[in-house]
Amino acid sequence: MKIIDQFLSYFESQDHTIVPSSALVPEGDNSVLLTTAGMQQFKPYYLGKPSPFGNRVASVQKCVRVDDIEEVGDETHNTFFEMLGNFSFNYPDGEGSYFKEEAIRYGYEFIAEALGMQIDYVTIFAGDEKTPRDDESYQIWQKLAAEKGIDLEIREYGREDNFWGPTGSEGPCGPTTEIYVNDVEIWNIVFNQFYAKPDKSLVELDQQGVDTGGGFERILTQAEGVRSVYDSSLFSSIMTQIREDLPDNTEETYRMILDHTRAGLFLIADGVVPSNKEQGYVLRRLIRKVLSVMAKDPAGREKYLAVSQMIRELYSDRYPELETSREVYETLITEEYALFADALKRGMKHANKMLKKKRVPKISGEEAFILSSTYGLSPEVMKLNGLEFDQEEFSEKKDEHKQVSRAGAAKKFGGHGLILDNGELKAANEEELKIVTRLHSVTHLLNKALREVLGDGVEQKGSDITADRTRFDFSFDRKMTDEEKKQVEDLVNQYIQQGLDVSITEMNLEEAKKTGALYLANRNYPERVHVYAFGEVSKELCGGPHVENTKEIGTFRIKKEEAVARGTRRIRGVIE
Ligand code: ALA
Repeated sequence: MKIIDQFLSYFESQDHTIVPSSALVPEGDNSVLLTTAGMQQFKPYYLGKPSPFGNRVASVQKCVRVDDIEEVGDETHNTFFEMLGNFSFNYPDGEGSYFKEEAIRYGYEFIAEALGMQIDYVTIFAGDEKTPRDDESYQIWQKLAAEKGIDLEIREYGREDNFWGPTGSEGPCGPTTEIYVNDVEIWNIVFNQFYAKPDKSLVELDQQGVDTGGGFERILTQAEGVRSVYDSSLFSSIMTQIREDLPDNTEETYRMILDHTRAGLFLIADGVVPSNKEQGYVLRRLIRKVLSVMAKDPAGREKYLAVSQMIRELYSDRYPELETSREVYETLITEEYALFADALKRGMKHANKMLKKKRVPKISGEEAFILSSTYGLSPEVMKLNGLEFDQEEFSEKKDEHKQVSRAGAAKKFGGHGLILDNGELKAANEEELKIVTRLHSVTHLLNKALREVLGDGVEQKGSDITADRTRFDFSFDRKMTDEEKKQVEDLVNQYIQQGLDVSITEMNLEEAKKTGALYLANRNYPERVHVYAFGEVSKELCGGPHVENTKEIGTFRIKKEEAVARGTRRIRGVIE
């Protein structure tokens, strides 16, 4: 793979020690389930532990990110990917260590000169009340552009885009500078200037570091000018084979098969075994998603193993563990296949019992959902086995279930160990939970204030709350003026100052809607719901958690207002 060779030889020429990828299951770090970034194996060296590899290293790291297993297989989400990166530790005291000047130069020279890619623009951290603007990076980019004789656009973005880390609840983190090609971020340089404590406060690090990440698949996609990595030269022959093997499926399914099979191969090669918990559960879900398509085919197992073999051949030069784990892999897949086939048999037996009680040979969407969730069968697999049911009702039940199981669920997927992830709120620890609770309450007040200022046409489209900010999407067809933003901000702060008590009432969904409480039109709610009222000001259907009185919230600030889609705006807000 040419880009990887070019990467290794460029950084070797700049005196970096090439460190092999660490395993996908991080050693001695419980804050994450799986390795999600190149810096993972180097975390201790940012905190003063001497690095056995010296202070300037580069690696090609295997990573798995499973933030949302449902999104995988689209243009931009890969479960498994390889991250290219160069790293520096113990700056300024450590021998050979470097910081912004060199890191930016290396990034530029690798992308623009070694790979010959056309840089669109670069970004730096704009600064906020917690951390100053990264003036130094700005100046370095300007100086470099002058030296190279190029025009370079330097954009400035906030914390959301240009501040990285920590992985897990605490660790090194800092401002970033990023390189964009065709409007896609392909090179991210993190300056580890701080240590984030569990309460989110930042402590300046004594010795600083550089942590760089460039997704190989993304770089390749941009270098070849194709739409997704599945269309790139890396995967084109495997994709052709999958299409031929399993005709009459969608492109999305083909991509999912390639993505999940590849992730499964690497996970098993690193010792993960399918199970119902942690890494094993991630693996089982990946395998079963592939099986739900493969099992339609009488030669499904053979086809699964054949696709696996093609992927193995592509990578085993660089990852010999794929070859040495081959027998184990084939045994585990065969076992999962048998478990899956058994579940299918039992599921169909159950379905036949259901059918016996019917006058027409059709089960309800709800019954189909019960079969699907009890036996792990996808709707496609059930249909293929002759079951008829109402797809729409099935999807409704599934969404309803997602809502219920999200509430209060503790997930530990992807990059971050979370104690709360209900789809809307995410918190890694008790400290963060307190902050997201306050941000959640202020989001209700924001919803109300927006309707007051912009009119009742404003409808909530979604929200996402982390300890750093609330992100609120709503329908509105133009950019808000500065005056409107100020009005909304002021109104929210007035509500907070009024010291409104928050009450919770449980009632039936229909009854709740009649009270005039706000709810999301496109969401399926369970039969019994909770209405959260903030004094007389706001009433919404919600699962909590919330503060008891609005005075606990603090002061609200709007940080950014932007478009996310035609007719949908997004506000990012914080509390101080
Ligand atoms: N660790 C940084 C990232 O994952 C470079 O983007």
